[in-house]
Amino acid sequence: MRTVITETPAEAAAFIRNGGLVAFPTETVYGLGASVFDETAIKKIFEAKQRPDDNPLIVHIGELEQLRELGENVDAAMPLIRAFFPGPLTVVVKKAARVPLAATAGLDTIGVRMPSHHLAREFLRACGTPVAAPSANLSGRPSPTTWQAVLEDLDGRIDCILKGQATEIGLESTVVDCTADPPVILRPGAVSLEMLSKVVPGVRLASMDPLKPVKSPGTRHAHYKPRASVVLIDDSDEIPVTPEIAGYIGLEHPAVNLTLSKVCSSVEEYASSVFAFFRDCEAAGIQTIYCQTVATSGIGAGLMDRLRRAAS
Ligand code: TXA
Ligand code: MG
Repeated sequence: MRTVITETPAEAAAFIRNGGLVAFPTETVYGLGASVFDETAIKKIFEAKQRPDDNPLIVHIGELEQLRELGENVDAAMPLIRAFFPGPLTVVVKKAARVPLAATAGLDTIGVRMPSHHLAREFLRACGTPVAAPSANLSGRPSPTTWQAVLEDLDGRIDCILKGQATEIGLESTVVDCTADPPVILRPGAVSLEMLSKVVPGVRLASMDPLKPVKSPGTRHAHYKPRASVVLIDDSDEIPVTPEIAGYIGLEHPAVNLTLSKVCSSVEEYASSVFAFFRDCEAAGIQTIYCQTVATSGIGAGLMDRLRRAAS
């Protein structure tokens, strides 16, 4: 299959309407989309990504009215939707009967999100249907924050890439289970616990205990792993003095010289550049990537979640 690269949302949307797969930019990471009501196309997403079939997809909408086609009993989610749509938040609600179980990996719930990215919104409007879209990487790999990262993982496996800029946030959306009362954060992201608490007091982070059953099946699989080992350090002076070919990303300047290093001026910048940095380290043949830990407030909770998974 030849993968078409285009900058035109309407051209990309035509592939979706014909049952194809399209990678597109959002404010979080690039997604790999297919029409949610086309079961054959949904199955192609799992094949192209080599995604375990017990991991449900997030469905993207361009208009709020489309929520009614996808979910039921959405009242509990409405305060969060009013506060954070469009934006980097996914709400999990009861699924409508017409949504194929292939999209939700057999669950009776569905994750829905409305991206704020201008190209994503133009694309979704042109599709005219809700679009199921996991991150556009091979399963287990770092999420793609550039169209080139999508190409690296999925060239020849998907129909089209809608080419845009590097994504702004760089971490996937916050996933909140609104079928629980009070709602539970299944995956932390840019919409932080602090922000959510102002709208729904009592919201809490799901237990990340690996031995407990999980409500968000995706969090159980290996994730975000570059072809290098990721080592977490609290201070940059924990890097060995004569490191092998190594990389470093964090907020402090490292004391030693490394093959590749990235000093970020904020946690936001760290979050938006970490996945691309992992891929840059791979390209440079780096074996160990040292990542400085950050405080788990704001987007720091999401960043630490991804770093811990990449290191595990
Ligand atoms: O920012 C994002 O959310 C990106 C962009 C493309 O929108 N998408 C994304 O999709 O990160 P994916 O498939 O890589 O991650 C989806 C996560 C998984 O952890 C999955 O288990 C969870 O959302 N999820 C989806 N539907 C769910 C449901 N019904 N119940 C619980 N968790 C669900
Ligand atoms: Mg993903």
